[in-house]
Amino acid sequence: MNWTKKHLLSIEELSREEIDFILKNAFSFKEILSRPIKKVPALRGKTVVNLFFEPSTRTLVSFSLAEKHLSADSINVSTKTSSVMKGESLLDTAKNIESMKTDMVVIRHSSSGAPKFLAERIKSNIINAGDGLHEHPTQALLDFMTIKEIFGDLKNLNILILGDILHSRVARSLIWGFMKYGTWVTLCAPPTLMPLYLNDFNVKVEYDIDKALENKDVVYILRMQMERQEKALFPSLREYIKEYSLTYERYLKIKNKSIIMHPGPINRGVELDGTVADSEKSVILDQVTNGVAVRMAILYLLNGGTNE
Ligand code: CP
Repeated sequence: MNWTKKHLLSIEELSREEIDFILKNAFSFKEILSRPIKKVPALRGKTVVNLFFEPSTRTLVSFSLAEKHLSADSINVSTKTSSVMKGESLLDTAKNIESMKTDMVVIRHSSSGAPKFLAERIKSNIINAGDGLHEHPTQALLDFMTIKEIFGDLKNLNILILGDILHSRVARSLIWGFMKYGTWVTLCAPPTLMPLYLNDFNVKVEYDIDKALENKDVVYILRMQMERQEKALFPSLREYIKEYSLTYERYLKIKNKSIIMHPGPINRGVELDGTVADSEKSVILDQVTNGVAVRMAILYLLNGGTNE
């Protein structure tokens, strides 16, 4: 297929064929990561600005590495060191940066819709690196790549998404993607952390973690996002751990060939035991590795590349 999209704003807007095409390219780019010299000239002469208005380790580092591996010139701008601290608006910041003849903007922002807002107003390609509670499309794509690498396909799998679903842009991107593949999705969280938008999706909701864990191929755990909670949504963290944490005891009951995933950062002892994070079923660090390949593929395709 020929890639036609100028921006990557959400999984919702991608077709299943487009997701498959990104993943196909990502698998090709992954091979480059095992070479002694991890560099190809695909984005030589292009300038990418990583505009991060929220903290990040994995997404920022992997975009930066992906840009370097593709020979792009890149620069990181964060809230704390930018003129946003002096009251400059997002649009003025982006327009000023673009005046310096940049080509692509990777943006993480606490406001849902910030990447779309920029895409409608500036000329650069925009990549959503996580916007508010809306979506985190590159995270979902690297997760799909990891699942595909292990199971061969996303169809006919039983997936459990467990944890703070209400505040998770990752969950929303995953659900949009899984729905396009016909994957069986179960969600498990305290009722107060279950979002209302689920009524629009064909997903199962289960409040009992032990029942939810039965027969799952993938157990995808989410962090408790305390920083996004304006009021207490469960009695105490101790209560949450007792009812919803993937403890080692619960881990032992998961089916043999299942995998444990987490977008990171993980809070050991809260949403999962440290032993579970480090267990043989855990593919958490494989997800991080695939993040570089997926982000290389996206940068490459948005810049007009094809792999046919
Ligand atoms: N998964 C993820 O987005 O991690 P960071 O916040 O560290 O980028």
